[in-house]
This record gives sequence, structure tokens and C-alpha cells, in this order.
Amino acid sequence: MAKSHPANLKPATALAHPNIAFIKYWGNRDDALRLPLTGSISMNLSGLETITTVVPDRRLKADRLTLGGVSQTGAAFERVSRFLDQVRRLANSVVFARVTSANNFPAGAGIASSASAFAALALAASKAYALDLPEASLSSLARLGSGSASRSIPDGFVEWKPGETHAESYAWSIAPPEHWELVDLIVILDQTHKITGSSDGHKLAHTSPLNAERIAAVPGRLDVCRQAILQCDFQALAEVTEADSEHMHAVMRTSTPSLIYQTKLTLDILAQIKSWRDQGCAVCATVDAGPNVHVIAEKKDGQKALSRLRQIEGVLDVLVSAPSPGARLI
Ligand code: DP6
Repeated sequence: MAKSHPANLKPATALAHPNIAFIKYWGNRDDALRLPLTGSISMNLSGLETITTVVPDRRLKADRLTLGGVSQTGAAFERVSRFLDQVRRLANSVVFARVTSANNFPAGAGIASSASAFAALALAASKAYALDLPEASLSSLARLGSGSASRSIPDGFVEWKPGETHAESYAWSIAPPEHWELVDLIVILDQTHKITGSSDGHKLAHTSPLNAERIAAVPGRLDVCRQAILQCDFQALAEVTEADSEHMHAVMRTSTPSLIYQTKLTLDILAQIKSWRDQGCAVCATVDAGPNVHVIAEKKDGQKALSRLRQIEGVLDVLVSAPSPGARLI
């Protein structure tokens, strides 16, 4: 590939949203490339944003990273700088960059920020280094930073296929954000950082006796979930989403060492959501690698669910989100 001429290097700023998975990503067949064990399906989350600026600068002797106004040197810096190495390799460039990034949601809210972080970084960095990547290649690139970031590149409702190689493992939009008026009520139960981050958790999936069973079940669940989204069939979406979240947490709990992310209050809320649905309310719940509960509802039932959730003792806050577009330059 032709070396990107230094004159083409220019500052670029991108915005991306986190996403919530209905069918989860848990475990890799290749940890270095983040090639997942299974496909996954998610929805991008409006209102929650990461904005990232990348400024290549020939005078720099190393990359620089500022997160939320704080200069970084540790693990976060290393992860970003390693990611920029991949971008530089593609662009055939040796120029370091200043990266400035901020979220509009609190880091302690337990919302996976690595998805929006690496989606915004992939788009901003690829533009800054004059790479004109099609959406699938951008999604693959974002995946190298954080697996779930691959799903924050395309719009709305998104599927990520596992693929056999780097280029084959990317996400695409299965429906635009306006296709279905869903809401995600993000029930914050704990604002402290999780003990085991996702990257370390993925490496333990293989140690669970339930993992092989989940890998075998996911392709069928992806078909059901995709159809449920295309047909706006809430009952089908609810059943498959809860089944996969439960199965992933069963894999986590039966790993060695065991990973327990859910608290008593998490389990209590999950039970309440099921009973509200039995009473005719279009709600379901899913939980990532933390205690907080994502309550997915049809918009018509969102307000009722929101006021019920806010009354539960121990709930610190409920953030309200809806399907959103993917990553974009600003
Ligand atoms: C439980 O994408 O955060 O939220 O690739 O190591 O950054 P890394 O992992 P990450 O894993 C997300 C795990 C999950 C399920 C999901 O979002 O699909």
C-alpha cells in the first residue's frame, strides 16, 4: 500500500455510541485478533456518546492520550497506542498522534465504554491517517481495539459475524434506528469499576463446561433475534434476549475462576421484569459484565417501566436510551 503522504495527515474528530447486545459476545477463538467464538446482535444507544479527536504530529516522539481531560500513561494508554500502531501499519506511516477523548456518561455507570471509545477512535484515526475505509473494514479495525466496538460502527440494529479471518469478522446494520421504537432503560445499581474486565473475562469462557453448549445454541438464537427485529416481534426478542443473557452469565459463573457479576438486586430486578411481562407489559432484561440491568421495552411501555424501576430500593439511577445511528465524523 502507498505510504500516506505526511501532507495528507490531518486532525479528525468522530462520535460513537455504546451498544447493548441482545445476543452476546463472550469468548474469543483468537484473543489477539478478537475473533469471537460466536456472532452477536446489538442496538446502538442514543444519548450516550464518546467524542474523540486524533491529531497526527510529526514532532511527537510517542503517542499522547487524554481521557476526560486527564493525561493517561498506564494500561489505557498502551491499549490506544497499540491500536494506533495498527492504523499506522495500514497507512504505512510512522507519525505519532495526540488523542483526546471524552464520554458524556460517567465511567462508573457500568456502561461498557470500550465499544464507543474504539469505534470513535477507529473512525477518527482512519481519517486522520488518510485511510478511506469502507464500513466493513472500519468495523473490523474497531474490533481490534474492543470486540463490541465493531458493532458501534454501523447504524441502528447491528449484527457482527464471527468470521475466520480479520477481514471476515465485521458488523453490519440489519435495520436502521427508526425501524423499531424501543427504549433501553439502563438501571444503575453500582457505580464502582468491575473486578474482572471483559478482556480478561473472555479468556475464561473456554474453562466453563457450559461454553460449548452456548456456542452451539447461538447460531439459532441469532436467526430468531434477527427475525424478531425485522418483524418487530417483541415477545420473540424478549425470550431470546433473556435466554442468551442467562446463558452467558451461567458460563461466567461456571468458569474457573468463577465470574459473578450479578448481585442479589440484579436477580431481583430480573424476576420483576419477567412478572411485568407476564402482566402484559412489553419489557425484557439483559445484563453485561457488571451488575446493572438493561431493561429493553417498547416505547409505549417505557414510561410505566421507568417509573416502576425508579421506585425500587437500591436503584441509584435509570438512564433512558433509544436506537441510534453508528459512528460518524463531526
Ligand atoms: C458482556 O467488547 O468489552 O458486554 O473485546 O475485550 O473489549 P473486549 O470486550 P468487550 O466485551 C463485551 C462483552 C459483553 C457482551 C457484549 O457486549 O456482547
